[in-house]
Parts: sequence; C-alpha cells; structure tokens
Amino acid sequence: MDTPRKVEHQQTDRGYIPVYATGVVEQPWDSYSRSDHAVWDTLFQRQRELLPGRACAEFMDGVRRFGLGDGGIPKFAELNKVLRSATDWEVVAVEGLLPDEVFFDHLANRRFPVSWWIRKPDQLDYLSEPDLFHDLFGHVPLLLNPVFADYMQAYGRGGMKAFALGPEALMNLTRLYWYTVEFGLINTVDGMRIYGAGIVSSRGESIYSLDSPSPNRIGFDMERVMSTRYRIDTYQQTYFVIDGFEQLFEATKPDFTSLYAKLRTLPVHAAGDVLDDDRVFTRGDRKGWATGADT
Ligand code: PHE
Ligand code: CO
Repeated sequence: MDTPRKVEHQQTDRGYIPVYATGVVEQPWDSYSRSDHAVWDTLFQRQRELLPGRACAEFMDGVRRFGLGDGGIPKFAELNKVLRSATDWEVVAVEGLLPDEVFFDHLANRRFPVSWWIRKPDQLDYLSEPDLFHDLFGHVPLLLNPVFADYMQAYGRGGMKAFALGPEALMNLTRLYWYTVEFGLINTVDGMRIYGAGIVSSRGESIYSLDSPSPNRIGFDMERVMSTRYRIDTYQQTYFVIDGFEQLFEATKPDFTSLYAKLRTLPVHAAGDVLDDDRVFTRGDRKGWATGADT
C-alpha cells in the first residue's frame, strides 16, 4: 500500500489556506523514520515529567492504562484493543484536518480521528495544526473515562445538529469544544488540574495555563462559553473551569436549539473579557496579551 498523504494547510501570499482531507487511512507504521519515533519519545518524556500534579487523575490514568511510553510511536491497532474493551471507542488514522461534518460523524460513531504523521524535530514547541502527538497523547487517554467518552459522542451528534442549523450554531458549539475538550481546566479536591488536549500536548501551555498570572480562570457556564471568542495563535487569555466531567455531560444534555436562538440575541465577548456574573477563580493581569482580533 502507498504511504498516505500528509495534508497540511498551505501558506500562500494570501495567508494560510486550510486544506482538508476526508478519508480514513491505514496507519503507515513501517514508514515512520527513526527521527519520527525520536520526536514522539522526546515529546512524551517532556510531558511525563511535567504532568504529574498538573493533569487531572483521569488523564494520567489513561496514559498509564494505554501503556503509552517512550518506545516510539504507538501502533493504533494496539491502542484500539484497550480502547474498544474499555469504552467501545477506537482511533482511526487520517491525513489531516477533516471537514466539520466528517469529524462529527466520526465522533458520533465513537471513532476518534488521529493524524498519522508527526511533527518535525524543529516543531517540538509549536505547530499550527494537529499532528499525531497532539491528537493521540492529547485526546485519547480521556476516551478511557466512561463519562468523557460519552460526552465526546454526544458532542459529535450535537455537531451534526448544529451543522444543519447553520454557521452561527456551529460557531457556538465550536467554542464549547475549544474551551472544554481543547483547553479545559478542572477544579479537583487536590487543586486546579488540566484536562484539555491542547494544553496537555503543549509543554509551554501546561505550565502557563496553571501557573501564569496572565490568563483569567473562570467557572464554566454554557452560555458564557458559547458566546466567547478564542485565540488560535497564542496561549489562551481565558480558561473555563469545570467541577467534574459529570457537570459537562449534564450541561450538554438539553436540546440546544433554543439556546442557539437565544445566543443570536446576546453580545459576543472577547477572549480576555471578565464579566460581572463570572465565577472568577483568578483574574488575569493581562500581561503579554496580544492585541488584535480573536476568532
Ligand atoms: N445537547 C446538545 C444539542 O441538543 C448536543 C450536545 C451534546 C452538544 C454534548 C455538545 C456536547 O445540540
Ligand atoms: Co485537538
């Protein structure tokens, strides 16, 4: 079989043009180079040292149960044995970012798409789109948690619905994903912890999200999250904090159709805003914040 394509966004004179892939491929495990495996090992070791006491127990538990380690890039087929028996999820290899409706369809059917390719050694700290390390190390450990696993499937179904309702509903729902699945914090009896995949897969943000005085840390509220823009090019200016995965799952149970309609009448907030009604854990000092438009 041919090695699958690596589909990346294209830099042109008119900026970044997103390029989407659609199909599922076979993970071309034999074609990874020594350097590819070394990139995994380096990223993994860095996070293994950093995350105890920072990532939530459910995430750490998932990493342990998968036996993720520094023996090179994991084989998806091996991970799937563990995943299927635990929560009936599986990972599938893809070539790059998927169109929204394709992504939602995977989640709704308990398949998590993972880019088959990994970043280059000069991209350890930043890359502008998800690679294998982000997708696998960041997202997959929590899929062993039954409540989070069900939340992700429900999100996929909700995505299909929002997609049909139109771009505003889709934007509202995308903000929910961003501020929970990608950049969520969780308040535990042991203290504030990380569960968002975008944080646990980034060394810099694993430190910044918990330790920096710059960002706001605000209690999760569905309407608030869905009406808050976000930044894709810097660390977050605001993190939303849940009390537990049950809270997330319960908050997403209602039919969102009327919520989407209501949100169209309400103001949209900038990424760094703090509002009177917010349950503020920490108010950011805003130092070092980029100015300019949020997404
Ligand atoms: N309850 C949401 C709806 O009716 C669906 C959803 C579930 C969205 C879980 C996000 C997460 O649209
Ligand atoms: Co992600």
